[in-house]
Amino acid sequence: MFILRMFLITCLLFASKGFAKLNDAYTYANYDEVKVSHVYLDLAIDFDEKQLSGFAELSLNWIDKQSRVINLDTRDLVIKHVMAKTSKGQWKSVPFNLAAYDDVLGQKLVLSVGFQPKTVRVYYHSTPKASGLQWLTPEQTAGKKQPFMFSQSQAIHARSWMPIQDTPSVRMTYTARITTPKNVLAVMSANNEPDTKRDGDYFFEMPQAIPPYLIAIAAGDLTFKPMSDVTGVYAEPSVVDSAVAEFNDTQKMIDETEKLFGEYRWGRYDLLILPPSFPFGGMENPRLSFITPTVIAGDKSLVNLIAHELAHSWSGNLVTNETWRDLWLNEGFTSYVENRIMEQVFGRKRAMMEQSLDRQSLGYELAELAPGDTQLYIDLAGRDPDDAFSGVPYIKGQQFLVYLEQQYGREIFDTFIRDYFDDHAFESLGTKAFEQYLLKNLINKYPGTVSEAEVNEWIYEQGLPSFAPKPSSDAFTTIDQQIFDLLGGKLALSALPTANWTVHEWLHFINNLPLDITQAWMTKLDQQFKLTTSTNAEIAHAWYLLSLRVGYKEIYPAMKTYLIGIGRRKLIVPLYKTLAESEEGKVWATEVYQIARPGYHPLAQGTVDNILK
Ligand code: BES
Ligand code: ZN
Repeated sequence: MFILRMFLITCLLFASKGFAKLNDAYTYANYDEVKVSHVYLDLAIDFDEKQLSGFAELSLNWIDKQSRVINLDTRDLVIKHVMAKTSKGQWKSVPFNLAAYDDVLGQKLVLSVGFQPKTVRVYYHSTPKASGLQWLTPEQTAGKKQPFMFSQSQAIHARSWMPIQDTPSVRMTYTARITTPKNVLAVMSANNEPDTKRDGDYFFEMPQAIPPYLIAIAAGDLTFKPMSDVTGVYAEPSVVDSAVAEFNDTQKMIDETEKLFGEYRWGRYDLLILPPSFPFGGMENPRLSFITPTVIAGDKSLVNLIAHELAHSWSGNLVTNETWRDLWLNEGFTSYVENRIMEQVFGRKRAMMEQSLDRQSLGYELAELAPGDTQLYIDLAGRDPDDAFSGVPYIKGQQFLVYLEQQYGREIFDTFIRDYFDDHAFESLGTKAFEQYLLKNLINKYPGTVSEAEVNEWIYEQGLPSFAPKPSSDAFTTIDQQIFDLLGGKLALSALPTANWTVHEWLHFINNLPLDITQAWMTKLDQQFKLTTSTNAEIAHAWYLLSLRVGYKEIYPAMKTYLIGIGRRKLIVPLYKTLAESEEGKVWATEVYQIARPGYHPLAQGTVDNILK
């Protein structure tokens, strides 16, 4: 009876082909039938036309013997022609069709190959609209001499610059030949050689299988400075020295992470410093993290960003979320590992301040998010994964792991994490598979500590469990008291002991001033501490946000310069959102945005367009 039932279930699964296997709703690829195992990109970077043009050659592994088509993801690509290699080694033209445009998914490219080729070539070019590329004129760069371009493929923008199976469920190696104008240097998330000659013709190889959202490229007036044998910085010449000084703990971070969670498996680890329009803080492109210049504060105060992108070399790049609903597996683990690295390199006090700042912002976010968006395993319900982006996968995810760490102790928990990375190295997995692994290797292995129900609440329920950790920092408790005393007249402004405050203490101070603070107090604080003109982007951002909320107008001229100069979403979106809450604010923001918009990345443009529309 049981065997018969199993047989029937198996038949059913096969009949509804793909039903059980295709988890990713954000790809058109029939990756249950055929999988791309390697990509060779042969592309010219054309700065005048703002396009990449050439071909992508895909190596294929056929899984389904019946299948005769290859469905790929594209967005705003122009497809020229398609060829497939026969078993006799001859290239044959292949009929193809670009399906209707979907705002979220782009366009399905159907290659009607008619047989099962091992290799296909798609000749194409991208367009200036590419959501995953930004093109900067020489005037928009620091050095003003050469143009600059870079990609940002996560979550589903790789398809805007190559026809690909754009899902984190599929991993592939890649090689690339990239041509550029002569004195421009190209780099990729691959084997960048420190002594590469700048001749406009570059070859790259990434021999480790990665999901396509980690394929990355940039080109511009880049120079390289080593920080250690295997770490270094690529940046425009005028930025490289300050970047090296800021980030010279990178090797130490690698060493500490290896001690905790196992070998760094990618060879080199370099940093690419992008122009300030880079829409993120950082992006964990393998072997070459992409980094915003807004963290070069001069005092290493924001280098947790490097710890974060480096941590992705384990969580995310080695062990990858299978779909964007599982993003917390990437970002929660990474935020956890990031904080452990910060503790090792900069001490527990700083690590706890960072956890505590993040935990407080998560609290504010949870109050505003749609309840469904506060789950770790999020229901994206057909939305663009970019639109559902929040602190939940990061900080709720991190706090879940901190909770487990506290329950089991570091010895057991660190071993668990290290084994998890080892057991799933170069694999993609989803929330369910993680949950099963967790139950088997931690929860049921050490019974009586954490219950399955508690695990379920963390992963599938909304908000934070009542038993969530409450990260605290003594330094912040002191500041809370000082704010109380200061505004209550018990502490003179001149007696506020700010001389030794770190950026984190400043951020906590600003974020915890009451919203009924008087204009007189805002003016006094500003005069004393020059917050409006702070050169630390995080401090400026926190101060502008508070000022907007309490109606302190002195900030406007400085905030205008800031909004035009920076395109990092996290540092501009909350300001535009708050401005848009009042008619007057919206008018001002719209005026500034007109000037700022051409300098923003397409992703930032999309977000701000929506806020001000
Ligand atoms: N991988 C993310 C950026 C990302 C996430 C891009 C989802 C697209 C979709 C990157 O590692 C990241 O989290 N960056 C943060 C760093 C911060 C948490 C230290 C950022 O950009 O602010
Ligand atoms: Zn991340």
